[in-house]
Amino acid sequence: MDSLLVRPSGPLSGSVQVSGAKNSVLKLLAATLLARGEFVLHNAPRIADVEVMCDLLMSMGVDTRRSGSDLAVSCSGDIVPEAPYELVERMRASIVVLGPLLARFGRARVSMPGGDNFGTRPIDMHLKGLEMMGATFDIHHGYVEASCDGLLGARVVLEFPSHTATDNLLMAAVLAKGASTIENAAREPEVADLAAMLNRMGARISGAGTSTIEVEGVEELSAVEHTVIPDRIEAATWVAAVGIAGGEITIEGARSDHMDMVIQKMGAMGVRVSPSRSGLWASCSRRLQSTDVATLPYPGIATDYKPLLVTMLAVSEGIGIVTENVFRDNRFAYVAELMRMGADVRTEGHHAVVRGVPRLSGARVKAHDLRAGVALALAGLVAEGETEVQEASHIDRGYEDFAGKLRGLGAEAERRR
Ligand code: EPU
Repeated sequence: MDSLLVRPSGPLSGSVQVSGAKNSVLKLLAATLLARGEFVLHNAPRIADVEVMCDLLMSMGVDTRRSGSDLAVSCSGDIVPEAPYELVERMRASIVVLGPLLARFGRARVSMPGGDNFGTRPIDMHLKGLEMMGATFDIHHGYVEASCDGLLGARVVLEFPSHTATDNLLMAAVLAKGASTIENAAREPEVADLAAMLNRMGARISGAGTSTIEVEGVEELSAVEHTVIPDRIEAATWVAAVGIAGGEITIEGARSDHMDMVIQKMGAMGVRVSPSRSGLWASCSRRLQSTDVATLPYPGIATDYKPLLVTMLAVSEGIGIVTENVFRDNRFAYVAELMRMGADVRTEGHHAVVRGVPRLSGARVKAHDLRAGVALALAGLVAEGETEVQEASHIDRGYEDFAGKLRGLGAEAERRR
């Protein structure tokens, strides 16, 4: 049980609706800690990571209520500014509560995120940036204990454009006294979405979505309604699916302006993609052609697209070299599973050489993480026989009804719990 079964079913057709972006909604939920009153997040995806973030907020004393794709969050009474081990261990992104807790309450106790299937993921840039704003940290019994006597605006230059470090610093800077600048900031559309909600709450942020973000601290923020942007990684998943299985589909709600590089890359491999009135149209009628891929922070090819691209390369004509530049530690772990399905991949450090094969064969494989699970399921669309992706709950962390959406495109897929 806890598996996803996929069988080959020929070219895909029909349309699929993209849900709200996981990596946006998690930060928007953390941002609700910055103000009293009731927030409503529209287009909030029904995924396990959102449930974990809601559990975390509720453990602090925040109320969350779902109605369809709307999520109401109200933060009125006393807040316990603590993120316990049990929840942070379930979701590393919980670290994004650190900035807002410090900014609003002057203290926070957050379990240190440990290692995961991406290897060790440090938080030194989060802590260094917050320290420059006046916070102090102690690490005791696996917890970061943070305090400050009111944050002060600062100029922070990030060593690397870390996505969640940018989110944390942004949420801290909005209530800090004076002006802050975050240089070498992450430019992901989800950072711009967070800034858009913060500005609606009364923050004064400019430059979000570029590498220099300027923030003028304000005294107080208020609760608002906000619509979460569509998930570009999910949208790219459907483009990859049509590249692998062939066919013609529409991807409702996708924003091509958030996906320029990945559309170019998948286009170079032979998938035709164009913006449509309601999202994206994608089709593929011949075998994919290999290309080289290097991951980079946005606007480069996101590391989260890489497993999708590796599955595409696994069935392409030719050889493609894939270079991981973002998580250089252990982000090819799932390749061994893909090889069990007949893929020809050689990995060396942060490189992989993928030699396309004419066909894959279905096998029992294990999802090491969310994106790997999806990439294996897509391989199952063209693998002879049945593919059983075990530990499919990883997929539920970031995809709403993945099997149902695949079936909606004509694929044979079944989630077993
Ligand atoms: N890094 C440090 N120190 C830090 C922070 C990051 O060395 O303090 C390093 C990391 O080890 C990594 C690089 O910087 O080598 C980039 O990591 P980043 O901080 O940007 O990643 P993240 O913010 O932890 C977010 C997404 C990931 C996505 C990455 C890269 C969320 C919740 N997560 O993680 O999404 O892969 O950015 O784009 O926003 C996923 O959705 O499955 C996922 C893992």
